[in-house]
Amino acid sequence: MSDPVEIRGFRLWRGLLDRPAQEALVDALRQVAAAAPFYTPVTPGGRQMSVRMTSAGRLGWVTDRRGYRYEPRHPSGAVWPPIPPAVLALWHGLTGLERAPDCCLVNFYGEGARMGLHQDRDEGDFSYPVLSVSLGDEALFRVGGVETPAPTESFWLKSGDVLVMGGAARLAWHGVDRVRHGSSTLLPQGGRINLTCRVVQGA
Ligand code: SIN
Ligand code: MN
Repeated sequence: MSDPVEIRGFRLWRGLLDRPAQEALVDALRQVAAAAPFYTPVTPGGRQMSVRMTSAGRLGWVTDRRGYRYEPRHPSGAVWPPIPPAVLALWHGLTGLERAPDCCLVNFYGEGARMGLHQDRDEGDFSYPVLSVSLGDEALFRVGGVETPAPTESFWLKSGDVLVMGGAARLAWHGVDRVRHGSSTLLPQGGRINLTCRVVQGA
């Protein structure tokens, strides 16, 4: 495995997953989505997000009029399916942690979807990193500071790239400006999937 590049304290492994590994992961995620279908989340302010979401693991990240939080069940009432073993292997291999993540949030970016700058701060213990896997179309990812979003810089995340947001950068602002629709052939209809693994409750 090659060394990661460091950008604002994030560690980025470019092209860590080869095409067969990406395809296997997409297959595993189809099973996740069969048990816990993608849905359109609504912000506490009542706005529909452009990204569609689901989760795997003990807990899933949800948002609706009641706020941002983790829940043990999909909005349908079903428990979330297990995190695919290949995702857990990446988590343990890159973070060096024995502790498994509680949540693997699965985001789907169709044409025109984006995600505004935000911090991941709904977890109970920021000493654990967030691991992010990109699949499918390329995304312009923007990262800012920890105290303030500005100044920011951006770079493209491609299919098979894996990013670890941890240490002093764990609470860095980040978001997705845009996705280059149709830039990858991984997903037959185009689009981008991003996975983020999180420890929600420490210890
Ligand atoms: C996120 O911050 O939840 C998603 C990041 C990404 O899509 O790369
Ligand atoms: Mn995030």
